[in-house]
Amino acid sequence: MTLLFAASEIAPEASTGGLGEVLAAIPHFLSANTGGGHEVAVALPGYPSLMAGASPLEVSFSLSVGDSLQPVAVFERTQPDGTQILLIHNEAFFGRPGIYGDSESAYPDNAQRFIFFSRAVVELAKRMNPAPQIIHSHDWQTALIPALVKEQNLPFRTVLTLHNLAYQGSFPASDFALTNLPSHWMSPSGLEFYGALNLLKGGILTADVLTTVSAVYRREILTPEGGCGLHAVLGQRAADLHVIPNGVDPERWTPLNDTVLAAPFSADAPEGKEACQIQLLDELRLLPNPTGVVFAMLGRLADQKGFDLLLPLLPRLLSSDSRLIIAGDGDPSLRADLLIACRQHPEKLAFLPRWDANFPQRLFAGADVLLVPSHFEPCGLAPLHALRFGCVPIAHATGGLLENLSNFELSSATGNALLYYADGTAPLWDTIVRAKLLFQNPLAVAKLQENALRSEFPWDKAIAGLNAIYSRLTGEK
Ligand code: GLC
Repeated sequence: MTLLFAASEIAPEASTGGLGEVLAAIPHFLSANTGGGHEVAVALPGYPSLMAGASPLEVSFSLSVGDSLQPVAVFERTQPDGTQILLIHNEAFFGRPGIYGDSESAYPDNAQRFIFFSRAVVELAKRMNPAPQIIHSHDWQTALIPALVKEQNLPFRTVLTLHNLAYQGSFPASDFALTNLPSHWMSPSGLEFYGALNLLKGGILTADVLTTVSAVYRREILTPEGGCGLHAVLGQRAADLHVIPNGVDPERWTPLNDTVLAAPFSADAPEGKEACQIQLLDELRLLPNPTGVVFAMLGRLADQKGFDLLLPLLPRLLSSDSRLIIAGDGDPSLRADLLIACRQHPEKLAFLPRWDANFPQRLFAGADVLLVPSHFEPCGLAPLHALRFGCVPIAHATGGLLENLSNFELSSATGNALLYYADGTAPLWDTIVRAKLLFQNPLAVAKLQENALRSEFPWDKAIAGLNAIYSRLTGEK
């Protein structure tokens, strides 16, 4: 089959979190290059980080976006694993350092940028030979594509994956003009939602098939509490809403890679983790030789991730000779809070608003515990990556975290994480205390770390699920 993915992120070059990770993995495993059997291309905006080393294709056209005529040049680049990337180049929209904004705020023209991108992908698909049979969109940034395909009666089948309902691409109704769709689309049965333009809603109503990233999250988003306002819209499509669970590429996320780590290690030979911890603390200029736990946190600086719960706990968390390393980009006010906290605890707390491509591996290899106090979490890939390096998640059991992690029981020596079940500062703190006590018991820690290191999250299930969906949509095997 010929498959065209459309998304706003791909790891490691252009990624803010899990979305980019998934786009680095799924096309890879579906592609003929890796035995996946399909012709796969990924359409992405031509960000500077991706344009470096890309070559122009003989495809260019212009698009009217609202009243402005926008040039489109298509560039091609091949990822180290052989994945073909098609870049929609438009200097004015994508020749910027950020994906969605700069360090102060979101770009004010994100509606234009991603409506333009979605429309350009559809124009590109029309010009591709062989034409894609499926266009698979991800999140609000490409959720307009199924509506465009419907409106133009194009022969492509469409799939939309919902990675996070909290981001809907909701813009003032006046931005509807940028879609150049006939006006009847700006109605309750189309892109209109409570008087605004809602790109995700349009995609939910028009894609042939919807998927989301864990069974628990699927259940949550069909309820008023978890649906971020869209539960009723999703309810109309419940029969077409499938679960495609995210996985972890064992070759990319492995503590055996000694070109990235101070020392390789594994469940059978875990000793190297100590050298990785020494290197991590040294790299971040934190006090060496902690007698307490080395905690880490990695993720978008967003309310979802529970920074509000963690911030008041910092002084207590850093007592008893612990360390904490936070890597995250996003909300400027959270960034300011974290920078201030770093000044108060310069030897024990490090905060990185930016990091290099291999930093997550070094962080997970060096840290004992990953904090995941998310209020909600569709899947949560960072804890799955952390486990691969024997870094144990403390997590709120919600969404994908509830599905993929299991609570450690000392008596049976089972489980790979420390879970708490009610959202809030008190249960989080109780679990941090539980970790601090547990880490004073070397035998228990060794078992917990071994369970973590033996955790696997193969992509097979997702790939089989997608193959079944694509076959059903195209009638092909
Ligand atoms: C979003 C979600 C996260 C999920 C990721 C990949 O970032 O917030 O939970 O793991 O998408 O699907």
